[in-house]
Amino acid sequence: MKFSYIALFASILSFGSAAPSPKAEGVAALVEPVSTYETDPTKRDPGTKVNVARATKTVTASMLQSLMLNYHNQARAHHGVTALTWNTTLAAAALKSASKCVFAHTANNKYGENIAAGTYTNPAFYAALWYNEGSLYNFSKPGFSEATGHFTQVVWRGTKQLGCAWVKCPGDFPWYLFCEYSPAGNVLPASNFATNVLRSKAAPPNPSQPSGNL
Ligand SMILES: *[C@@H]1O[C@H](CO)[C@@H](O)[C@H](O)[C@H]1NC(C)=O
Ligand SMILES: *[C@@H]1O[C@H](CO)[C@@H](O)[C@H](O)[C@H]1NC(C)=O
Repeated sequence: MKFSYIALFASILSFGSAAPSPKAEGVAALVEPVSTYETDPTKRDPGTKVNVARATKTVTASMLQSLMLNYHNQARAHHGVTALTWNTTLAAAALKSASKCVFAHTANNKYGENIAAGTYTNPAFYAALWYNEGSLYNFSKPGFSEATGHFTQVVWRGTKQLGCAWVKCPGDFPWYLFCEYSPAGNVLPASNFATNVLRSKAAPPNPSQPSGNL
């Protein structure tokens, strides 16, 4: 079975926010897949050395693709597993789910799925939070945990394709990132984790977080 679960970001909560509780108010007004943020090329995720603040101002669909592929694939390279490729079917599925503006995993999903919602306007920041859960993962005790489930999906060796959506929703935590993964990661039993979640080849990820308010 694939382990599906709902996890809000402890990291986002620790930034002084309450749990996301958006309300759907009709899709037409909700979908705004463009955000703006300022440039600061000095901000880097110390775990992956990925520059999360890229020198650009708007998150277009193609930017989202490159931000997500870059972040995931640099993280995956860190663990010696192959790069993901973008799949528009997965991206469309992510958009369909994210556009509901309900912070919940897609029901009966055949894909793996990581979701995030918050006030941060750089989608790469959420991917960094997912990856940085790896600092809590015990490679000597492979298996699923809610504290590390996003991380294990990001670096899951058997996953080959990715598609994400970035949507602005109503509410206090407006920026939604949904990513779909195929084949799905986090597949039980725990022995699968031993073969799919590999130790990083370089230093372990640094738990400190990059800034998301770019
Ligand atoms: C994209 O993903 C879908 C769903 O997994 C799959 O059926 C399709 O073959 C993929 N497309 C490509 C080009 O790999
Ligand atoms: C990791 O798991 C191993 C094996 O169960 C255990 O001996 C070790 O104490 C764990 N490390 C941490 C930091 O929990």
